[in-house]
Amino acid sequence: MSTRDEILKLLEENRGAYISGESVAESLGVTRNAVWKAVTALKTEGHRIGSVRKRGYILEPDSDVISLQGIRPFLLYDEALAGKIHIYSELASTNVTAKEMAVSGDFGGHIVIADRQTSGRGRRGREFFSPAGGIYISFIIKPEDIYGDKAHLFTLAAAVASCEAIEEAAGLTPGIKWINDILLHGRKVGGILTESALDMESGAFQWVVVGIGINFNMPEKEFPAELQKRAGSLFPEVDAPVTRNRLIGELINKMSDITDRASFEDPSGIVDRYRRRLDTAGKRVQVFCAGESYPAMALDIDDRGALKVKKDDGTIEVLSSGEVSLSSCD
Ligand code: BTN
Repeated sequence: MSTRDEILKLLEENRGAYISGESVAESLGVTRNAVWKAVTALKTEGHRIGSVRKRGYILEPDSDVISLQGIRPFLLYDEALAGKIHIYSELASTNVTAKEMAVSGDFGGHIVIADRQTSGRGRRGREFFSPAGGIYISFIIKPEDIYGDKAHLFTLAAAVASCEAIEEAAGLTPGIKWINDILLHGRKVGGILTESALDMESGAFQWVVVGIGINFNMPEKEFPAELQKRAGSLFPEVDAPVTRNRLIGELINKMSDITDRASFEDPSGIVDRYRRRLDTAGKRVQVFCAGESYPAMALDIDDRGALKVKKDDGTIEVLSSGEVSLSSCD
């Protein structure tokens, strides 16, 4: 580990408390000047580090730069993930980078994270607004013997993992708009984009990339005008009481649990947890599916996670793909 990484690890372990430059230098076997240089570099990257003569350095409690050292304390499966988390300050799209990795090599289980995206991608070719300070994360999954008919389960699983991680780390209670939107107080605070490649011979997945975007700490007025009515963030008006690192750590734990083989063999656990969060049932929706669009009443999801809707002529449709829009939240 580099001196910079060692120092960030020590600062994270002592977040909110002073550590003396002398003890840091001693424990790492470097000069105090080397410590000072590394701290200066960390500050340039945005870490909020204070220093007071005779007391040393302090990582401010609200410092929130995404880092491996910041995420690691929250990981339940630290050993399995060591070396698999790739963090960037900027990418065009974490999904694009993750897909390139998935195609090019043995990157199953790797995770790509960015502080901002210049071409964040949403479903149906839409853009996903991705300024600095959000959470943009893609999971590369190389499933064994999972077939195309289970494709939608990855999105359901990611929606459940996102809601549960937000609840656990941030104490908020988000809901889900079928199939991939995370809602809080009626506003969309996150979305999921799942992309994959199938082996045409067997119908099994070669790889799946599950991308999750969460608006973290942004006032509603800072969204582009066309999103201002329906987009929101976890903490629009107040300083976030948790760091993104903590939330990312929880999200990684939840995704590891919920995307394991057993969960896909018997998806009832994923579907039940999804149903509990579903905010769409019992609401008037506009359905967009297979080039068609019609108004309907959303009923419930079935045991595969497909949405049942009742058209105005009384017929029931079961949607396993497509999209619905609510009046408040596109
Ligand atoms: C949607 O709401 O339509 C889906 C949005 C998905 C956004 C995430 S952010 C991380 C990953 N990288 C992308 O370019 N998109 C997904």
